[in-house]
Amino acid sequence: MRTIDSLDVKGRRVLVRADLNVPLDGDAITDDGRIRASVPTITTLAERGARVIVCAHLGRPKGKVAPEFSLAPVAARLGELLGRPVAFASDVVGDSAREVAEGLEDGEVALLENLRFEPGEESKDGEARGAFAARLADLAELYVGDGFGAVHRKHASVYDVPRLLPHAAGGLVVTEVEVLRKLTEDPARPYVVVLGGAKVSDKLGVIANLLGKVDRLIVGGGMAYTFLKAQGHEVGNSLLQADQLDQVRGFIDEAAKRGVDLVLPVDVLAATGFAEDAEHEVVEATAIPADREGLDIGPKTRELFAGKLADAATVFWNGPMGVFEFDAFAGGTRAVAEALIASGAFTVVGGGDSAAAVRKLGLPEDGFSHISTGGGASLEYLEGKTLPGLAALED
Ligand code: 3PG
Repeated sequence: MRTIDSLDVKGRRVLVRADLNVPLDGDAITDDGRIRASVPTITTLAERGARVIVCAHLGRPKGKVAPEFSLAPVAARLGELLGRPVAFASDVVGDSAREVAEGLEDGEVALLENLRFEPGEESKDGEARGAFAARLADLAELYVGDGFGAVHRKHASVYDVPRLLPHAAGGLVVTEVEVLRKLTEDPARPYVVVLGGAKVSDKLGVIANLLGKVDRLIVGGGMAYTFLKAQGHEVGNSLLQADQLDQVRGFIDEAAKRGVDLVLPVDVLAATGFAEDAEHEVVEATAIPADREGLDIGPKTRELFAGKLADAATVFWNGPMGVFEFDAFAGGTRAVAEALIASGAFTVVGGGDSAAAVRKLGLPEDGFSHISTGGGASLEYLEGKTLPGLAALED
């Protein structure tokens, strides 16, 4: 992949695809990690005299203009973090975008409105996507792919535009790929992967691939209940994906065959309902009462997981261990994060909710070797898939 050093950007309009898909509460950004991660590439380009046009998506407005998914609050935060004004275009490829792009001077930065307001961005029809990509490419002379969190999407701004303009990978994409490559090519051992989050169905591909690569696989969070059920235990009202039970039984067998240490919760915080203040108690993972649901891993499990991480040399962690958004059920996620920090291993936090949890729980970000900005993207990379946005940058 060419890096931005290879581009002569001075005085030229450079379209930067960033991933600025941040959680919002109304207009308030609740975690600006992805915006912060986008700052270095934009700053470098601006300092080199580029006219920087940033494009990004927010949420899933599905090809329609939806004010609650406007990137306007992100433009304001990006300006604060860059320490320079960010002109905001109120459309993606319309009059406002053209006017803003043409009005840029050397070293100035603009952000276009949410790419996903345009149906062409995500279209499965290559022609429709291509037509939108051509309009986007028209705004600029060069393209920089720096939206690592979106490289697994075959979308116009990720996959088609780099075919139309001279292009390079931004510093964030280069770093993310370097780190993930370390995990896939001869990782230092023991190599331990911790998976959590609600749905096992989101992780099928990665589990299948990791079983051939890891020494230990620790499973917590909502997805653990499908594993417990597959082992024949009742899980009460806990999250369960009954349609995945056969698949999960297959994973359990495969782990045993390959000598992978598959580590599941031994106790959980079982609550009367899904609520911040729900009454709850610690119960054995094999004895969850029928009217209760597990919302976090219990104290014995926290110790067990920490022990399994203590001697690790490489750790990848994706997905919270419980409902960390509720203080009462954040302890398991905190314990795993702290065990990663204490391990001294090469530790990678895989995007999305786990990265947000690290920041929400006030854990030191520099306690980890790398916090990825890509949730789905890092999982698909570890699954061994070809990611369209990376393939396009390699051509
Ligand atoms: C993410 O949040 O993982 C990326 O921004 C991609 O978003 P998407 O899953 O809506 O494509």
